[in-house]
Amino acid sequence: MFTNPTGTQDILPQDWPYWTYVIVHAEDVARLYGYRRIETPTFGPTALFARTTGEGTDIVDKEMYTFEDRSGDSLTLRPEGTAQVMRAYLQHGMHKLPQPVKLFYIERIYRAERPQRGRYREHHQFGCEAIGVEDPLLDVEMIVLLNDFYRRLGLTRISLAINSIGDKNCRPRYVAALVSYLRAHEDRLCSTCRERLERNPLRVLDCKQTGCQPVLNAAPRLTEYLCERCQDHWDRVRQGLDALDIPYTVHPRLVRGLDYYTDTVFEFVPPTEGEQAVIGGGGRYDALSEAMGGPEVPGVGFGSGIERLILNLKEQDVVPPPPERPAVYVAYAGEGTEVAALRLVRDLRAANIAAEMGFGRRSLRAQMKAANGSGASYVAIIGEDELRAGTATVRRLDTGEQEGMLASDLIAQING
Ligand code: HAM
Repeated sequence: MFTNPTGTQDILPQDWPYWTYVIVHAEDVARLYGYRRIETPTFGPTALFARTTGEGTDIVDKEMYTFEDRSGDSLTLRPEGTAQVMRAYLQHGMHKLPQPVKLFYIERIYRAERPQRGRYREHHQFGCEAIGVEDPLLDVEMIVLLNDFYRRLGLTRISLAINSIGDKNCRPRYVAALVSYLRAHEDRLCSTCRERLERNPLRVLDCKQTGCQPVLNAAPRLTEYLCERCQDHWDRVRQGLDALDIPYTVHPRLVRGLDYYTDTVFEFVPPTEGEQAVIGGGGRYDALSEAMGGPEVPGVGFGSGIERLILNLKEQDVVPPPPERPAVYVAYAGEGTEVAALRLVRDLRAANIAAEMGFGRRSLRAQMKAANGSGASYVAIIGEDELRAGTATVRRLDTGEQEGMLASDLIAQING
């Protein structure tokens, strides 16, 4: 017997009300904020992801699904959505469109992580990217959009953390200060921190090990090293959020797990602790295009994991609308009645009425049981008498009232 690969999930029919609920809200909020949908290929050139997400990040070092295709090119299943959207923006000359170009996607993402609750090797993200304009108000709008999305879904227990990680002008000065501070306290850091200190020092700030917290909490803060431009950007982002009464906390150690960010970074977290708890995060990425060999193009965006979102909806007792039930279940018994049943369900569906019929040559009793189980409002029974009269006996399943009627009368009754 085959089973699904570790870290992947079958999304079964009983879960789809949640998925539909999230997707409908995602599409709706994207429309309200002026985003248009984009879909990029599931895989792309390995170098595109390696250069943008960054060597020395967990994603590039350990988690990419990389393979050689038949012509010898190295390809990778997308480990995140932003790089491909920027690639498409550049490739299709979207800089000629009115800026910013606002794009959203709902797509599968692949990371070979250690699977656990809320962390999978294949997951889905709803993401938005606004490309082509460097304006702190756009960072504000992006955060507001994501906040709005979560509120519309009914998530109440969720909080927003923000930080600024500066740009290529001021960050090196900060990183130098951080490295010399961490070197001085290296003996009190875990082995992962020590390794990150060599390869990607900013990521040390992200460590969740209890033992490392005293050193990391006392580390120099990024926002104290911002250059004038980055300071102004940072001030205006916070002013914008304040003006719109969006609650947030400044989290001086928030750096995120991808290298392409500049200035604003943000994450929405539920009350649960743990690394896999972040429901959605993003930030500004003015250096992304250059990292892939393109021109300087500013951008800002977020990705929100749909599986984690659904886990939180369940935890916070948000119940999505139930799936649509058939309006009519058609049961039949007797010589020649199956053809009349086939025709009746066809006519009902042609009139946009969801209809089911009994399959498997079951007794009328078994079909009545199935009708009750289906959640239908009406059962239409076709026996030999009805067949002769060209009618069906229609019973309301809630009251038990019944009467014989023509298909056209049943359609008129339901469709009003
Ligand atoms: P990210 O923080 O790596 O950002 O992922 C975004 C969200 O995807 C996370 O907050 C989480 O909800 C979900 N997620 C990530 N990894 C997993 C996993 N293994 N299993 C389940 N859910 C997961 C990005 O990917 C950026 N591209 C976001 C972005 C867009 N920044 C700017 N624009």
